[in-house]
Amino acid sequence: MQSDKSLLEIVGDLHQEIEAATLGSKKDAEAFRVRYLGQKNGLVTNLFKRIREVPPEDRRSTGQQLNALKKRAEARLEEALAQARDEQTTHADIDLTLPGRRPLTGSIHPLTTTLHDITRIFERLGFTIADGPEIEDDWHNFTALNFPPDHPARDMQDTLFVEASEGGEGGVMLRTHTSPVQIRAMQAGEPPFRLIAPGRVYRNETITYKSYCLFHQVEGLVVDEGVTMADLKHVLYTFARTFFGDDVKLRFRPSFFPFTEPSAEVDIWWKLPDHPQGGRWMEILGSGMVDPNVLEAVGIDSERYTGYAFGMGVERPAMLRYGIDDIRVFYENDVRFLDQF
Ligand code: DAH
Repeated sequence: MQSDKSLLEIVGDLHQEIEAATLGSKKDAEAFRVRYLGQKNGLVTNLFKRIREVPPEDRRSTGQQLNALKKRAEARLEEALAQARDEQTTHADIDLTLPGRRPLTGSIHPLTTTLHDITRIFERLGFTIADGPEIEDDWHNFTALNFPPDHPARDMQDTLFVEASEGGEGGVMLRTHTSPVQIRAMQAGEPPFRLIAPGRVYRNETITYKSYCLFHQVEGLVVDEGVTMADLKHVLYTFARTFFGDDVKLRFRPSFFPFTEPSAEVDIWWKLPDHPQGGRWMEILGSGMVDPNVLEAVGIDSERYTGYAFGMGVERPAMLRYGIDDIRVFYENDVRFLDQF
């Protein structure tokens, strides 16, 4: 600033400069602020420091002029900042031609759908739904179901214990099947019973493409006077036709379970176009007539009442239905898998 110019002349020059300044961008606005209003060396700021040079009688009016100059500079700065802000939001960052983003919505897990479909079929056949705890005691999971004390299923190899058992009996475990819900339901009511119990079960399995440490089962139980194996076959055929289609083929194979006598495993014929035999038998469930010992364990007169029971896995039918060849994908929560359903 030239010292031969009077303070008032300088004020006039700065007024002009301030009006003429180009203030297009945020950067311009910041340069403007530093140049005129900067705390240390702003041209307008500095003028206030020179007020002492003015003769006392003129100070008041000079002061007013300086204040007016400062106000004007501040107003221009405000304007410039507001404009820069507008430009940033309306033009720079937003591409209005981009397609909208869909919010991510979840989908129903294929196991949930399968479990639901199985449940619906039995509901239409007059079954009610029963429930039981996933943490179960030895008596409900094994003893009441007629498992002898030394049965291999009671072994640590197969069962995930929460509290260890002593000498093969006792202990608390993650239920290894949904059959204990039969026991709980029969304890809680009086025959007749016609129920299913869908739910999660746990086993100490080596994890591979075909086995996992947890999976789902649907247990079925019917107890009444005069119930026979023909009733069991009828219900299972009806279920299989509804779930797999009218042309499904079923096979009953003699088997053994501690809680049923006689027992049968049921296979379905699964068509495979590339298979040399055109398909193969696949086991889908275990079943049988409720062993009288089980009825007696819950205080039901086994001379008067008979019953049948069955237990089916949910993962296997879901894998067949959706063409999934690795059970682990159900539990990995990979969105790329889940998104397909
Ligand atoms: N609880 C058996 C299992 O987990 C399945 C089963 C077989 C259940 C026969 C039954 C049945 O009710 O009658 O392998």
